Order: sequence, then C-alpha cells, then structure tokens
Amino acid sequence: MNPLDLVRAEPGPSFTVTLDGRDIEVLPGRTVAAALWAAGVTSWRTTRDGGRPRGVFCGIGVCFDCLVIVNDRPNQRACLVPLAPGDSIRTQEGIGHDG
Ligand code: FES
Repeated sequence: MNPLDLVRAEPGPSFTVTLDGRDIEVLPGRTVAAALWAAGVTSWRTTRDGGRPRGVFCGIGVCFDCLVIVNDRPNQRACLVPLAPGDSIRTQEGIGHDG
C-alpha cells in the first residue's frame, strides 16, 4: 500500500534533484534521506576508517551517520536537510573533502 494513501496525503507535484548525476524525483517536503530511501538508496556515505557504508541510523539529527554532500557542501545531515528543485546530492567518502 502507498503510505500517502494511509494518511490521505495530497502532496504537490514532484520535482527533480540529482544523486551523483542521476535524476531522482522528489515529493515536496522530503528530506534528503527520505528522498533517497524512496529512490531505493539506503547507503550514501563511507566511514573514514575502513570505508564502511552508512545511511540513516537515528533519523533525528543526533548520530551524524547520514552525512552527505548537498550542493557542494559536505557533512550535511541527510535526515534534516529538506530538498528543493535542482539540488545536487553527492555520496560522501570520509569527511567529504577532496584530497
Ligand atoms: S540519521 Fe542520525 S543524524 Fe541523520
């Protein structure tokens, strides 16, 4: 069942953002994490030590597991950042800075 039906939600029209250059359709009001989950993506960061995969853990901005690069700004908490049309999301390795 579509969760939008459960609460009789009628969100506005979707818009497009990108994840590592790939187009993703997003409903208004969704955070980066919600949009990535809806697109089937559950991991978007690797740890500094060991390169282990990470995504959402707490979902409320406390654990910092969900760090991601949004519009060229690294270390954004995906569970807290709302998306806007045209935003660019990039997966993050370690601390998210090149070099
Ligand atoms: S999932 Fe814990 S800070 Fe985002």
